[in-house]
Amino acid sequence: MAASHIQAVIFDLDGVITDTAEYHYLAWKKLADELNIPFNRNFNEALKGVSRMDSLKKIISRAQPAPSFSEDELNRLADRKNEYYKEYIQQITPDDLLPGITDLMKEIKQKGIKIGLASASKNAMVVLEKLGITSFFDGIVDAATIEHGKPDPEIFLAAARQLHAESASCVGIEDAEAGIQAIKAAGMFAVGIGTADKMKEAGLRVEGTQKLSFIKIESAYLLKNKE
Ligand code: BG6
Ligand code: MG
Repeated sequence: MAASHIQAVIFDLDGVITDTAEYHYLAWKKLADELNIPFNRNFNEALKGVSRMDSLKKIISRAQPAPSFSEDELNRLADRKNEYYKEYIQQITPDDLLPGITDLMKEIKQKGIKIGLASASKNAMVVLEKLGITSFFDGIVDAATIEHGKPDPEIFLAAARQLHAESASCVGIEDAEAGIQAIKAAGMFAVGIGTADKMKEAGLRVEGTQKLSFIKIESAYLLKNKE
């Protein structure tokens, strides 16, 4: 039975708080071009929320004929992509917070509701620091401590545990299909940011972060709990 009020809101990072989803795309695109593997924005959608190594394996599986890389080679390729990505995130400043996110976090805090982070990125802490919002978070799950990536619910469940919140009283906010699946598998209310075709499983969907507000989230959450 779902609780009557929200105890915690758990945010994804890349593509929800800031547009690092674009930097991940550009870094993968550079690597894929170097390897002569076809890669475009459409395929990149399937990589959102997916770990670095799993993303690399998905990209390689598209090559014709499929190359076979040793584990060492795979690690080197993943490192190379991460070096490209790290160059991009150097330029991040607080101006890169997506519209509406700071106001939403302030509102959540004022209501005494906990804020958590569930990011699959091992670069999450650096990005939060550059955005200047680390202190907003009552709990941050380090991707390095997670065994199963999204769509597995593990990362959202770990965040709820850190926040001492029950799953049914948590809201998760995501821009990836794998992320929405993870939130729902954790028994939480899912807010999706993106197009209707990608976010059809979300309990509430908005086109962009500027359309997010706590009242909208709370109304949709309460309505869902009445069902
Ligand atoms: C997720 C991104 O947040 O983190 C994925 O949506 C990315 O695109 C994953 O692959 C892992 O990130 P990193 O920074 O550890 O390579
Ligand atoms: Mg994301």
